[in-house]
Amino acid sequence: HSKRIVLGIESSCDDTAAAVVDEAGTVLGEAINSQTELHVEVGGIVPHVARDLHQLHIDDVVQSTLHNAGISLEDVDAVATTVKPGLHMSLDVGMKYTKQLLKNTWKPFIPIHHMEAHALTARMIDSSIEFPFLVLLASGGHCLLAVAEAVDHFLLLGKSLDVAPGDSFDKIARALKLVLLPEYQGLCGGAAVELMAKGGDPHAFVRTPIMQAHVNCDFSFSGVQTRFEQQIEKQEAELGLDLNRVLPSVSDICASFQYNILQHLSNRVQRAIIFCHREKLLPLNDATVVLSGGVASNQFLRQGLQRVCEAHGTRLVCPPPKLCTDNGIMIAWNGIEKLKTGLGIEDINSVEVLPRC
Ligand code: KG4
Ligand code: ZN
Repeated sequence: HSKRIVLGIESSCDDTAAAVVDEAGTVLGEAINSQTELHVEVGGIVPHVARDLHQLHIDDVVQSTLHNAGISLEDVDAVATTVKPGLHMSLDVGMKYTKQLLKNTWKPFIPIHHMEAHALTARMIDSSIEFPFLVLLASGGHCLLAVAEAVDHFLLLGKSLDVAPGDSFDKIARALKLVLLPEYQGLCGGAAVELMAKGGDPHAFVRTPIMQAHVNCDFSFSGVQTRFEQQIEKQEAELGLDLNRVLPSVSDICASFQYNILQHLSNRVQRAIIFCHREKLLPLNDATVVLSGGVASNQFLRQGLQRVCEAHGTRLVCPPPKLCTDNGIMIAWNGIEKLKTGLGIEDINSVEVLPRC
């Protein structure tokens, strides 16, 4: 193989994933073990359960990845592993495994920031995306807006002051007991709400805009989440929330919730674009906005944000849903990007995992 290749390992949350990617962005092999279904049943991630499952599957995931790529560890030019941010116990499994893997070898190690990896994935699928670009990352653990200025340089414009949007989607799905429906089994909360919202009235439950008085790019989702949870309780008390009988109101709730989230995200993205243009942080013509993270797999949100971006002369790029949720490919690709800059390699023994950053 004449192109350099990187093995990426991800274990920051509830997915154990790995991939081998080359310099051209070709995925040579990948594997993933998702814990989502199990955590949906329990109603959230229990850190030590997540850790145990990572431990159980990580070797299998990495070995299958190498096997699928038709290579062995000797063939890779570097190993990249997520070291921050995430659940401490989960990150630890990936790091310890990587240390073990690289013991007695001289393979370079590249530590990866999970959120930066989400942001940079867009450059793998679309090589025309150049720095700087604006990025909105919306996942189950984070919500942030940043200007990606270089592979390892991000200017943070705003973040969630409370919960993450994916988390709110998960809570609403749970309050509505969507996973009990046969055709919703195996779906994460966000995907369940999106499916149920189809055909629902997005204006059925109108809410006041979120954080209107805050003239910045920060986010808040706990207020809207609580109000919808209260709405669900109220409906349950008045009508008895039977998913088989009161489907219209359930889909109205989902559609309205989604609409409220879209309004908030749109408002923040719009403000960020205007700010970046004014401060000359983004090119005035054809600037790129990247939308990623698990919540970005929502088609309704994508379409809405697409309109906002178009109205401001920017183009919106969303990686395919498979690359928006946690995966090993984004980690390997970030490894490639860092390898190309020549600055990404660090001594594995001096790197520590960081739950927050
Ligand atoms: O990025 P991700 O896989 O994991 C991290 O949180 O880092 O994101 C998972 C989150 C979950 O909260 C899930 O409910 C949400 O992304 N999500 C969605 C959709 N698909 C996944 N939220 C809204 N609409 C979706 N279609
Ligand atoms: Zn993620």
